[in-house]
Amino acid sequence: MSSYNVLAEVYEWLISDAKLAPAEFAASFDDVLSLLPSNAHVLDCSCGAGQLAVGLAGLGMHVVATDASEAMVRRTAELSEEFGASVRTVRADWEELPDHFDDATFDMVFCVGNSLHHAEGARGRVAALESMSRLLRRGGRLVLTSRTWELVRARGSRLDISDRLVRRNGRDAVVVYRWDIAPNWEDEHHIEIAIAQVDPAGSVLARSELLSSWPYRYDQLEAELHRVGLQTEMSTFNLEAENYMVVASKV
Ligand SMILES: C[S@@+](CC[C@H](N)C(=O)[O-])C[C@H]1O[C@@H](n2cnc3c(N)ncnc32)[C@H](O)[C@@H]1O
Repeated sequence: MSSYNVLAEVYEWLISDAKLAPAEFAASFDDVLSLLPSNAHVLDCSCGAGQLAVGLAGLGMHVVATDASEAMVRRTAELSEEFGASVRTVRADWEELPDHFDDATFDMVFCVGNSLHHAEGARGRVAALESMSRLLRRGGRLVLTSRTWELVRARGSRLDISDRLVRRNGRDAVVVYRWDIAPNWEDEHHIEIAIAQVDPAGSVLARSELLSSWPYRYDQLEAELHRVGLQTEMSTFNLEAENYMVVASKV
């Protein structure tokens, strides 16, 4: 399993400017949020450093934020405190979610920012989606965003080095992605992410983590959503775009 415990410390250098402010991150989901009842109960089940969860709480929703990484959950709790937001945080792997919450607890579940590929292969992915589906009330929705893995795999193994410095908290950093693309879709792939921060005094502080990844085709994801009782309502999938969003409702 990918730990994200090293990346959690430097996660702001990995997220885009648009996702940094909690209110802006939440506003990027305005279309789906407008479908929610007032006082909605929402779950962000791969909350990362908490920007979306805190943004949703700022809209008055009852928010629970979970993540497999203890360090990410801690960052979400810290961000909530900083913003005076009310977010319940729980460390939980997707498959553990039903141990923490009753079935049909939530109106909307978010699994965004390209997280699902960390589930171990088709078995792990279906188990993760099954957990998310169980926690949704009938008519509730799963909102999932993903990289277009068809494009990622077509490019093969490679090194992506950011062509500009990313500035956060007054510090610049270079971000490097090393993509280790396996021969077959179903094999374990690896992504190594390195962040080299340039200290104001001139020294370089590098942090990196090797993450496991099991990419999936869009068609496969759709079939798996249906298998766990979710019906695709909306999709922005397009083979020429880098990312897409799927909204699927609980039948
Ligand atoms: C790319 S980050 C996205 C974080 C956040 N959603 C965002 O958009 O910034 C992927 C997240 O998925 C979490 N994750 C990975 N495997 C997981 C699992 N099996 N169960 C729950 N969360 C997991 C990681 O800890 C990490 O926080």
